[in-house]
Amino acid sequence: MKVLYVGDVMGKAGRLTLKKILLKICLQNNVDIVIAQAENVSHGKGMSISHYSQLEECGVNGFTGGNHSFERQDTINLVSNLNMPVVAPANVLGDTYNNFKIINKNGFSVAIVSLLGYTIPGGYGNKTQNPLVCIDSLLPKIQNDFMGPIIVNFHGDVSSEKVMMGHYLDGKAAAVIGDHWHVPAADERILSNGTAYISDVGMCGALDSSLGVDWDIAIDRWKGSSAKYRMHNNLPYQFNAVLIDVDNTSNKVKSISRIREIIQ
Ligand SMILES: [Fe+2]
Ligand SMILES: [Fe+2]
Repeated sequence: MKVLYVGDVMGKAGRLTLKKILLKICLQNNVDIVIAQAENVSHGKGMSISHYSQLEECGVNGFTGGNHSFERQDTINLVSNLNMPVVAPANVLGDTYNNFKIINKNGFSVAIVSLLGYTIPGGYGNKTQNPLVCIDSLLPKIQNDFMGPIIVNFHGDVSSEKVMMGHYLDGKAAAVIGDHWHVPAADERILSNGTAYISDVGMCGALDSSLGVDWDIAIDRWKGSSAKYRMHNNLPYQFNAVLIDVDNTSNKVKSISRIREIIQ
């Protein structure tokens, strides 16, 4: 089974990137299931219902979450609906929501979980449960009635946390996939007990920007301005993802590779 994990879809430029390129990438690589990071889909904050539908039409089957997941009521509604293939970070305590989902497509199945890093800007402070403790209690619940591969999305800022989570879940999860940086890391590999790992997938959206927003405003803010961030929607766009090939009987990952494309 080939699973494509697509990095943070950042606003309109991110959505247009998937519209332009996702089908082609899936056909070229015989992709069976597509998972995408959805915390920034609608103007950088969560995902609206209509944008969820747009991305589903583009070919996304399951959606992970991050620190912006709770900033839009539509997203809260999506992750609170058991029938929706959208998860929120499992270690943010509070309301009841999808803390894992089994994604089914054409006879293939994969479980997805998102965890927030402990150290994250604008994080949820003492509302964030230790991600190691959280995944310890969640894995047995997932495996209660699911024998397939589990993809753990680690949405964090600190590289040491990401690397540690990879090693902690080596042999327990099929893959540990980092995101939130919006910049791809080049450390994809299969760990010693068979888990695929990458520190960060990167993002989909405007290339000449500060992580998807106008860089001139980001610089003004860095200098002390309180100007509001503005999404950057001009070409060129970038597409960043990882492709994981999972053995259908052993759940072991055979390969992990980065896919990066620039749309001019
Ligand atoms: Fe993001
Ligand atoms: Fe994030």
